[in-house]
Amino acid sequence: MKKSILALSLSLGLMSLVQADALEDRYNRTCAVCHASGAAGAPRTGDVATWDKRLQEKGMDVLVANAKNGIRAMPPKGMCFDCSDEDFKALIEYMAKPKS
Ligand code: HEC
Repeated sequence: MKKSILALSLSLGLMSLVQADALEDRYNRTCAVCHASGAAGAPRTGDVATWDKRLQEKGMDVLVANAKNGIRAMPPKGMCFDCSDEDFKALIEYMAKPKS
């Protein structure tokens, strides 16, 4: 019994690691092209103040919609053509976090 609980928590731990890796990988292939450097006025990854301001003024739903549809110099979908709404939300949360 104890063993199976251990195995379960181990595999759950591994799963979230894999998911975090996949997110980072996706970020690096798409959003990072502009958001890592702040090219063309893109809010920079890890710039918590700038992201917080946008999140407070517009809210997550509007940010997801603008990422999907594009806004000014930001192209529609930000190069992530297979991203779902959930993926955009996760990517925005990733960029809005302080960089570790
Ligand atoms: C080709 C460059 C480019 C890429 C790639 C890109 N962005 Fe952007 N993004 C921008 C620019 C430029 C802005 C600033 C737009 C403005 O407010 O004028 C921006 C702004 C945003 C905003 C704020 C929108 C708002 O309403 O304030 C979000 C959210 C966003 N990007 C999400 C993403 C996500 C998620 C990805 C990856 C899937 C991504 N971007 C990829 C250039 C890019």
